[in-house]
Amino acid sequence: MQTAFLLWNDENIKEAAQFLKAHEVVAFPTETVYGLGADATSEIAIDKIFKAKGRPSDNPLIVHLSNVEQLAQYVETIPTKARLLIDAFMPGPLTIVLKSNGTIAKNVTAGLDTVGVRIPDHPAARQLIEAAGRPIAAPSANLSGKPSPTSAVHVFQDLNGKIKAILDGGPTGVGVESTVVDCTKDELTILRPGGVTKQELETVLQEAVIDLTEAETKVAPKSPGMKYTHYEPEVPLILIEGDAAFFGQQLHKYQQEGKKVGVLVSEELSREIAADVVVSCGSREEIASVANQLYQSLRTFKSSDVDIILAETFNEDGVGQAVMNRLRKAATYIAFPDA
Ligand code: TXA
Ligand code: MG
Repeated sequence: MQTAFLLWNDENIKEAAQFLKAHEVVAFPTETVYGLGADATSEIAIDKIFKAKGRPSDNPLIVHLSNVEQLAQYVETIPTKARLLIDAFMPGPLTIVLKSNGTIAKNVTAGLDTVGVRIPDHPAARQLIEAAGRPIAAPSANLSGKPSPTSAVHVFQDLNGKIKAILDGGPTGVGVESTVVDCTKDELTILRPGGVTKQELETVLQEAVIDLTEAETKVAPKSPGMKYTHYEPEVPLILIEGDAAFFGQQLHKYQQEGKKVGVLVSEELSREIAADVVVSCGSREEIASVANQLYQSLRTFKSSDVDIILAETFNEDGVGQAVMNRLRKAATYIAFPDA
């Protein structure tokens, strides 16, 4: 299949919308990462998303809408707390999981009786959804297991020849995906940290919100053989929990073994160390810049021939929570200083 590269303008929005109406899949920009969209009411179209990405069919997709009014058409009810979140964060990098009313195609929700919905804060995305005139299901537009795309070129690298078109709206802003919040029970839980922070949610709700992924982060170091299938670069990534001295020590250890080492670090640490390939992913003092550059930085190593990547850990305040969640998932192994 020929993949059309469409620059974002009125005419190309129409063309991309035509593809969506014809049950084809189209990649488009959102404020978080690029999505791979298809008509959420068409099982045939949705099947094509799973095929193009190589995504397991039991992982549900987020339904993207262009306005809040549309939301009520696809869910059973909108509980009070969900309403508060909608008013505060939509459009924006938040996905809420609600009870589905069954209107959405079954393969979108992987057979669940719930549906994740979000209204992206990117004009290109909303124009496209509006022009298509239907809800658009969209996972991140990467091959399953790879870092999410934050530019049209990333989508092209992963999916050229597998999808109908890519709508190019330039690089994305937030850089990590939306926060997914389960709103089906009275006690709200974060299923995936993302662009909206836990603190922001708690300020609006005036109550504590549980982040179910925090438990994952406190587990013992992963064993070197354990393979994770998320946000993976091409070679093993070792996440270094510890200070700059410990980082330097680990770096030295792998260099001694004769390995060509790449490092994924803050601007600050990049000034202190020397490795074969140094990729700086923003300032430690400005965690939003790290979120913005994280996936692109992970992809950079693809064109270098390093044997291993060592990654720095970041403060988990604000969007740092999402950054660390992704780095832990990308990691083959987490190295801790000897206790
Ligand atoms: O920022 C984003 O959310 C991007 C852009 C394109 O909108 N999309 C995205 O989609 O990251 P994806 O498919 O890569 O991740 C969707 C996440 C998955 O972790 C999935 O399990 C969860 O949302 N999810 C979707 N529907 C759900 C549901 N009904 N219940 C629980 N989790 C759900
Ligand atoms: Mg994804």
